[in-house]
Amino acid sequence: MARAGRLRVLWTTAAAGLLLVACGNQELPQNTLDPEGPVARKLDNLIDPVFVVAGLVFVLVQGLVLYSALRFRRRSDDEAPRQVHGNAKLELGWTVAPALILLVVSVATVGTIADINRRAEGADVVNVNVIGHQWWWEFEYPGRGVVTANELHIPAGRPVALKLTSEDVIHSFWPPKLAGKLDVIPGRENFMTVEADEPGTYFGQCAEFCGLSHADMGLRVVAHTSGDFDEWVRTNAAPAERPNEGEAGEGAALFRQKGCASCHTVNGYSAGELGPDLTHLQQRKVFAGAAFELNEQNLRVWLRDPPEEKPGSLMPNLELSEDEITKLIAYLETLK
Ligand code: CUA
Repeated sequence: MARAGRLRVLWTTAAAGLLLVACGNQELPQNTLDPEGPVARKLDNLIDPVFVVAGLVFVLVQGLVLYSALRFRRRSDDEAPRQVHGNAKLELGWTVAPALILLVVSVATVGTIADINRRAEGADVVNVNVIGHQWWWEFEYPGRGVVTANELHIPAGRPVALKLTSEDVIHSFWPPKLAGKLDVIPGRENFMTVEADEPGTYFGQCAEFCGLSHADMGLRVVAHTSGDFDEWVRTNAAPAERPNEGEAGEGAALFRQKGCASCHTVNGYSAGELGPDLTHLQQRKVFAGAAFELNEQNLRVWLRDPPEEKPGSLMPNLELSEDEITKLIAYLETLK
């Protein structure tokens, strides 16, 4: 293909790609520019005007550069450009105008920062402690007796005050449609507010490189109606019932024999603290840092060799037989 032809193909592909991205906007689950809660909306209300201003400045500056390069280019070897020095009006203009623009942008930015950093208070507020781990999220509901992982359940239409800290390295909590991102730092407490307008599931992601499986450190925020949230809390605060018979009963015994119990809490049965609390595992749709949908097939693949599925996973390969895996899954399926 001739060079011009190849270039045309390149341009068409790039343009089509950009166009498709624009079309798919509604479908992107992690889109800062599509806020679905008041905190994220405040950020979007800052991003939009600042982007317009920056865009205009970009077009103006690039336009002038292009114009000057063409208009004042050297036309022959012996031609010297006219030498000028100093133009008070112009210099004053390009000093004052950017200063004014930056002033407006900074007032809006500082105002928004102060606004979103204000701690949510009041009887309406739900408090949750967020603890980052390599590579999963722990959510504690103080005063409610609930601990869960990877899925942050909240009531829609109410502010949720998060207190973030980390067990190991620095992570960053980021549910783009509901809030900005905030670092999750060991030995330090950071605070942020999230709120969803409507019930639904919102996707998020650890946004700070935190080791081998950083990319697999996803999260979900599940917003419920007020009644459903209370119901969820009731269910998740209850201890697990322990099966005594059949495959599930044998699985419960294996859970202790194989050492699962020393890392995982199942309220009423085990009290491990290294891995996610599994008391009501079946209330979740995902596991292992929201990297996998929770179903029998995925649990089986996971239990065969966790570090193979998720590089660096602290959960070791326990060399379980297929029969043992079947029994463990039968037990895990009773954790409703
Ligand atoms: Cu945790 Cu990246």
